Amino acid sequence: MTITSLKNAFSVEGKNVIITGGTQGLGLAMADGYAELGANVAITGRNAEKGAKALAGLREKYPNAKIEYYQADQTKQEDAQAVIDAFVQDFGKIDVLINNAGAGGGDDAIGYIKDNFENWNRVIALDLTAYFMMACMAAEKMKDSGGGSIINITSNAALTVNKPQKMVNYSTAKAGANHMTEMLAWEWAEYGIRVNAIAPGYFRTDLEIPELTDIWRSYTPTGRFGEPIEVAALAVYLGSEASEQMTGAILVIDGGYILAN
Ligand SMILES: NC(=O)c1ccc[n+]([C@@H]2O[C@H](COP(=O)([O-])OP(=O)(O)OC[C@H]3O[C@@H](n4cnc5c(N)ncnc54)[C@H](OP(=O)(O)O)[C@@H]3O)[C@@H](O)[C@H]2O)c1
Repeated sequence: MTITSLKNAFSVEGKNVIITGGTQGLGLAMADGYAELGANVAITGRNAEKGAKALAGLREKYPNAKIEYYQADQTKQEDAQAVIDAFVQDFGKIDVLINNAGAGGGDDAIGYIKDNFENWNRVIALDLTAYFMMACMAAEKMKDSGGGSIINITSNAALTVNKPQKMVNYSTAKAGANHMTEMLAWEWAEYGIRVNAIAPGYFRTDLEIPELTDIWRSYTPTGRFGEPIEVAALAVYLGSEASEQMTGAILVIDGGYILAN
């Protein structure tokens, strides 16, 4: 629908939203933001204890919102399908999918030979293939219900070299997810499905590593880490009607990091 007024254009009230890996960090901030604005939200994650805690916290804060947690390892096809099926059963249609569950880790890639490339395969499986699987499964439902919005949380690491850590696995997976975003945006526009990416820089989450924090901050023109709620604001925009003409976009939110590096 094309907006004719800005009055309710940014509303996500009543929208049904799945956020993978929403039990902490950026995912939890997005779940919080959507729930605060009246959306119905499901979060996923592997650790059931962490999931129960996040769910209880969100439900306490937003007693009128419909919020669920599904335990899932998003790299497993059967878990991903179970999330989609449970969500459709509990909520009805899917309006927004946020592919967020991601992780890095690794070291100099020459060392990957010793671990049979486990460090490569693990990160590609989570940060790229799992995003693709969930996108396909959600799109199948969105196509039937007239459309939807898919948001892939990638990284500015997909667009530049983040220093000084070595992380070719993570940066490559995120770069793949960015181009996957562009391809799917084109391929699924005819179904009314929009596909966009948010590429964050450094945010105040568990990602903070004491010996690197000052270095990363010094490379960031705004001089600070982002706050998770700032990613949530962008995710709400991409899930709302205000962004109906936006698809295939890679929205960088990194305090100017890639401009200066
Ligand atoms: N934080 C940043 O500054 C930053 C910067 C750029 C990009 N990003 C991207 O933003 C996303 C979120 O980052 P974050 O820092 O908020 O991460 P985080 O704090 O490590 O949280 C990751 C979330 O994903 C879940 N998760 C991890 N592996 C999973 C799996 N296999 N299946 C299902 N859930 C899984 C975790 O729960 P369980 O452990 O219970 O599974 C947790 O809820 C990631 O894609 C990351 O690459 C973050």
